[in-house]
This record gives sequence, C-alpha cells and structure tokens, in this order.
Amino acid sequence: MRFGHFDDPAREYVITTPETPHPWINYLGTEDFFGLISHTAGGYSFYRDARLRRLTRYRYNNIPTDVGGRYFYLNDGGDVWSPTWAPVKAPLDRFECRHGLGYTAITGEHRGVLAEALYLVPRGADAEVHRLRLRNQSGKPRLLRVFSFVEFNLWDAFDDQTNYQRNLSLGEVEVEGSAIYHVTGYRERRDHYAVYAVNAPIAGFDTDRDAFFGPYRGWGEPQAVTEGRAGNSRVSGWAPIASHQVDVHLAPGEEADLVFVLGYCENPPEHKWEGPGVVEKAPARDLLARFASSAQVDAALADLQSYWDDLLSRYTARSGDSRVDRMVNTWNQYQCLVTFNLSRSASYFESGIGRGMGFRDSCQDLLGVVHLVPERARERILDLAATQFPDGSAYHQYQPLTKRGNHEVGSGFNDDPLWLIEATGAYVRETGDLSILGEVVPFDNDSGNTGPLFEHLRRSFHHVLGNLGPHGLPLIGRADWNDCLNLNCFSTEPNEPFQTTQNRAGRTAESVFIAGLLVHCAPDYAALARAAGFPGEAQAVAEHAARMAATVLSHGWDGEWFLRAYDFFGGKVGSRECAEGQIFVEPQGFCVMAGIGVEDGQAEQALDAVGARLGTAHGIVLHQPAFTRYHLELGEITSYPPGYKENGAVFCHTNPWVMIAECRLGRGEQAFDYWRRIAPAFREEISELHRLEPYVYSQMIAGRDAPREGEAKNSWLTGAAAWNWVAISQHILGIRPEWEGLRVAPCLPALLEDVEVVRRCRGATYRITIENRSRGGSPRLTVDGHAREGSVVPYAPPGAVVAVRAEM
Ligand code: BGC
Repeated sequence: MRFGHFDDPAREYVITTPETPHPWINYLGTEDFFGLISHTAGGYSFYRDARLRRLTRYRYNNIPTDVGGRYFYLNDGGDVWSPTWAPVKAPLDRFECRHGLGYTAITGEHRGVLAEALYLVPRGADAEVHRLRLRNQSGKPRLLRVFSFVEFNLWDAFDDQTNYQRNLSLGEVEVEGSAIYHVTGYRERRDHYAVYAVNAPIAGFDTDRDAFFGPYRGWGEPQAVTEGRAGNSRVSGWAPIASHQVDVHLAPGEEADLVFVLGYCENPPEHKWEGPGVVEKAPARDLLARFASSAQVDAALADLQSYWDDLLSRYTARSGDSRVDRMVNTWNQYQCLVTFNLSRSASYFESGIGRGMGFRDSCQDLLGVVHLVPERARERILDLAATQFPDGSAYHQYQPLTKRGNHEVGSGFNDDPLWLIEATGAYVRETGDLSILGEVVPFDNDSGNTGPLFEHLRRSFHHVLGNLGPHGLPLIGRADWNDCLNLNCFSTEPNEPFQTTQNRAGRTAESVFIAGLLVHCAPDYAALARAAGFPGEAQAVAEHAARMAATVLSHGWDGEWFLRAYDFFGGKVGSRECAEGQIFVEPQGFCVMAGIGVEDGQAEQALDAVGARLGTAHGIVLHQPAFTRYHLELGEITSYPPGYKENGAVFCHTNPWVMIAECRLGRGEQAFDYWRRIAPAFREEISELHRLEPYVYSQMIAGRDAPREGEAKNSWLTGAAAWNWVAISQHILGIRPEWEGLRVAPCLPALLEDVEVVRRCRGATYRITIENRSRGGSPRLTVDGHAREGSVVPYAPPGAVVAVRAEM
C-alpha cells in the first residue's frame, strides 16, 4: 500500500494523505541554516548547530508524534482550518505534500479555498521563507483571517527542555511593523537574534504563547484564531512565540500571496544596539528586503533548483527501470548530501542535542558526496584529521560549532583511524587533488603539534598495526564499526552508558572486521604514500596487507565464513561454536571487498553463507541467531530485544558491503537482488509495513526475529545512504574513479539490459552506454570508437566529452 507517489520529472515525492504511518519529513537548507519539515509542516529550524542555535521549539516523542512547526491557521467566517492539515486537522477536500530537493510545498483545499504553503531555505540566506498562496475558487467573495505561528526556542535546545526555573523568566521580544524579533539572551552574551516577519500590513500579532492559545486550549483551537482577533500580546518571560494576523479579502477567482521570513541574524559585539536597549536590526531589514515579494521567492526557488540540477548532473543513469533511476539520479544523492551536512545530529530520530559529528560516520558520509561537493569534502577531511591524537587514534566525535574533539565520548574505537584513509583515498581518486596530502594539520587541535595530512594517514595505519592482539588481528578497543559490540566493557550497572564507561584493560579482544578494513584500505593508502613521495612505505604497506590477509585466513576463518572477533577471554565471536550470534555480516562483506579468500574459494563460501543464513525478504540481517539474553562479555548488542538494532536487525549500512562483495565475485544478479530488498523506492509498495519515508534509507529494518519484521526505523541520517550509493553507482552500475582512470565495470542483473550513464569527473564528461546482452562477464570497451583493453578509461582533459561503449 502506498501513501503517495514519485513525481520523477519534478524530483518530488508527492504525499496524498496527511495520515501517513509516521511523519514523513524533508530537509530545508544546504549551507548554515537548516530546517526539518514533516508532511504536515511539523519540525524545527536551527543555525549551524541543532543544539546551540535552535530557533524554534520542538517536543520529541509527543502525542501525537508530530506537533509543533511552522503553522498557518485560517478563520473563514468562523470556520477554522489549516492548509497543512495540522494542527487544526479539519477535513480537507484535497491534501497534497510535495517534498522536493530543499523545499516542501503543502496544499490544502477546503470549502472553495485553496491554500498552498511553500517552505524553503534560499541559497545564501540564513532564513526559511514560507509563502502562503491563497485562492478563492468559490463564486462568492471571502474574507480570510490568516494567523501564522512559530514558537521560539531559547537557543540552547538542551537547556530549553530542562532548565525551567531559569528559562521561564528569560523570554523577550521586540515588535516593529510586521516583524517580530526574538531577542531572548541578547541583553547579555548573545550577539544573535531571530526574526519572523510578513511582507504585508498586519491586523494584529501575538508574542505570548499563553495569550495566543488561551488557558487550557490545545494546538487546534487557539483562542486568538477561534475569536478571529489577535491580542497584540507582548511576552515577558514564559514562552515567546510569533504570530501575525493578516486579513485577506478575495473576490471570486482571486489569488493572493503572503511571504513570511523566519531568519537568523548576528551583529558584531560593538554594533549590538541601535538605541538604548533597542536591538540593531539592520541585518534583519536587509534580509527581509531580499524576500519581500513573491517574485523574489520564485527566483530563490529557481536558484535552488538550478543548484540541484548542476549537482545531480554529475552522475545520471537511464536504466529502463524507473525505481532504479529515481534512487540513483535523485533521492540517494540527495540523502547523501543531507547526511553529510548533518551527520547524526538532527532528524525525527536524532534529537539535535545528542551526538556531534561522528569520526567514522563523517568519513563514510563523505563517500557519497565527493563527486558532488569535493571542496567541502576536502575541508571535512582536514577538520577530522585535526581531531586526531598524535598516536594516530581519534576522538570518536567532534562538535560542529567548535570543531573540537568531544571529551565525553573520547577515543578508543579502533576502526576510526582507518576511515580517514578510506575517505582521503575516495577524495583523491575523484578529484586528482594530491595537494591535500601536504596540508599541514594539527593533532588534537594543538597548533604546536602539526604534520602534513599524509603524516596523519601514516599514523592512522600504524595505529592499527601497532595494536594487534594474540592472533595478530587488530585489537577492537571500545568497539569497531558496530558500536554495540563492546568486548571490554562488562557493564553491570544500568546507569552507565556502554560506550563511555571505564573498560577493562586487556589486550585480547580482536576484530576480524578491522582486519578486513585494513586490507581493504591498503591499496589506496599505498597509492597515497607513493603520491606523497614515500615509495618505501607503499612497498611496506603491500607486505603488511598480505600478512594481515593471511592472518585472517588462518585465525579469522571459521570453516564456512569469517569469524567476527575474539572476546576478552580469547573466545570466538561469530562462530558455529557459539550458541547465539554464530555468523555476522560485517566481516563477510569487508573481507571479501578486501579480496581476502577470493582466490581459494573462502570468499564465495562466506557470501553463500550470508545468503543462506542472513538473507531475508527485507534485507540481510546483522547476525544469526539473534541474542535472546544479555551477554555481559558482548555488551550493548545483547541489550536489544532480538531483531532490533544491532541485535539482528537489517542494518542497511552493512548490506551494500555484501553487494559490493558480490560484485567482486561477478555475481550481479545477487548484488542487485540484495539492493532491491532495501532500496526505498522498491519498498514503496509496502509502505504500510515499512512505515517510514519511501524515498530515503532508514538505519534499520526490523529483522526476522522481531515481532514487527519489515518495519523501518531511524530514517535519513545513516551511513546506509553513502554505502548504498557506492554499491549501486560504483559497483552494480560499475562506474568508479580509480587512480589510473575511470573504471567502467558494470555488474548487472538480467533485468537491466540497456543502461546509459553520464558521469562528470575531473572536468570531463563520460557518456557511457552499457549493453548487457550476455548477462554478466567482463565488458568489452570501446572508447571514442576505439577498442580498449581492460576496464579503465584514462582521464580526459577538462571540457572533453568521451563516448564509452561497454558490451557485456
Ligand atoms: C553509528 C555508527 C555505527 C552504527 C553501528 C550508528 O548509529 O552512528 O557509527 O557504526 O550505528 O553500530
């Protein structure tokens, strides 16, 4: 069952009922100002940091789930309704929400009035623009009393939800014409304020929440709205809001637009005031002048669309299957950029007050956007490297506003350093920019202790090599990719977090996954070393990698698949000898991606075991059998009921590793089949079961051991976005930037017979036609009409257009 449909030419998902199984959201903003917006206009906005610069208030885990947002109320002669359905929830004759790239348009029709609310964050502006378009479709004149509504957050979102003895006495606003200014905290250390304004004369306003709603009333029935008259209330302490009343007269057939702007402004400390106690409003006036007319909003929307046209023209595919094309051309790339921007900070499952930027998360998110925003990927790599410790280990997270490592979480996640190599390799292969290797970057943000980026990578690699356990495999530390496999934790205390609690000192718990990751990174690291002028290091890396691969086969092979780890006592994790958790997906995917066991058949055996034991209709689950009780020696992974999260759910981040591994063995049918099981556009038909947005990946889908198998959770901000992009674009469709050129090595299922890909890389354009007649095998390449050996097309100069034909 579906709750809408894709509009591919418009690059929109169109939701046709307000009653989706869960709020289906979108993101506004690509630079500094961001908004989360649900299909009924719920959500919130922030500037740069979802915790410290939150503009509007949002209450998570509410009843119903999604209340609070940028709302409009219409009072039409006593008949009160909302164009976005919420919060009034009066029945609509038609409802439609169009989530597009960086904007959302919600239309409601009610008794002859059509109202469309368009929401966007224009490029180059620290503001959300809300345009309300009203049309009288009836035969008689109408007077619509329009009420806008946002509720201000007192900036620090954590404080805002906890420190009421202070907060409830802080709130302050100023009103000037049709602009309402939120100036709480400005009298002391803040140099920033918010403004919510409309481009029309107002009949009244409210800034005091309690006055606007009236005592004991809820979201759907504010007193100002039901009485049709704003109270011109001025808040003092308690809860500041901004609501305008605009009275709109419409003749039959007439249309009117109102443009509202919710903006963030800063003043230099010496220019904070324009008069005694009066906030300097010059930046706000400039901002409002930029969006004072509907034509300016149209121009901002067109500008946003051309931004996305340009970005998405870097990789486009025509495969003959619209579900493949909409994931590849639009939604997967869009999700990759949102995830890169926000890491794991703010979504409908991440509260914006929890995690900073994850080290491994950001490195992997970057794999999905190096082709889109290479200059920002470069900056991110350098920021991440600056949080690395001198010994090569890394802070697990850093804060976006300060770019400093997060002490609360600390370090000790032993896979972290290697992801920096993975990210840098991807960046240099995409761009050819070797200058990044010489950039001087501090260790732990200490300007007195610096080194070129390549030195950071060298210490990353050697940190892992320098921390091997009794079998010669890398020590796991607090955890590896699987944050919940805590082999040194031994927590018996419910009040302590698994990931930050004091671990037992021990040098026995080892990770086969990190071993696979090391071998996988080695070719890129060796190439980087050569490029940085260290041929000896490059040579040594090849030897280290070969030794590690051999160690995996001698101590990390369980007979039919790769082991997961050795625990604190040296016992096997992920072995047929275990009663629960006999086989884990992570080492199967990564070891085969790294090429371990490809020659002697172990790779094929491991992937067959994955298919037989972990494959389900809804994707590949993390391990089997799921853990049915808490295992002290394994940690958080066993804290979840079977089938959820790290305890045996389909963790969508890991599935593409298996897809890539399948492609490594040339098994395109199987790779594509795994992708189809989790790709949102393919799950659209079962939206009543999947429940979350059918246009973006979720972190997990409940596994076969869960009562709610097939139900997704935690959409949007997940490493699943980047890795699924890598799997489908670089391995299944098979177009991948390498050191020597662009590799064209598709590994396709029979379903995709003729595929065209246009790929822009290093300034040149490659028009690639794939004829998949023999259903597999290696392609025969023709480049600009000439046959070419192998599967690599040399890089062409900027501006060149190269025609590539690949016959399978
Ligand atoms: C974290 C990742 C981690 C994954 C698996 C996610 O929530 O952000 O860093 O790899 O869970 O535990």
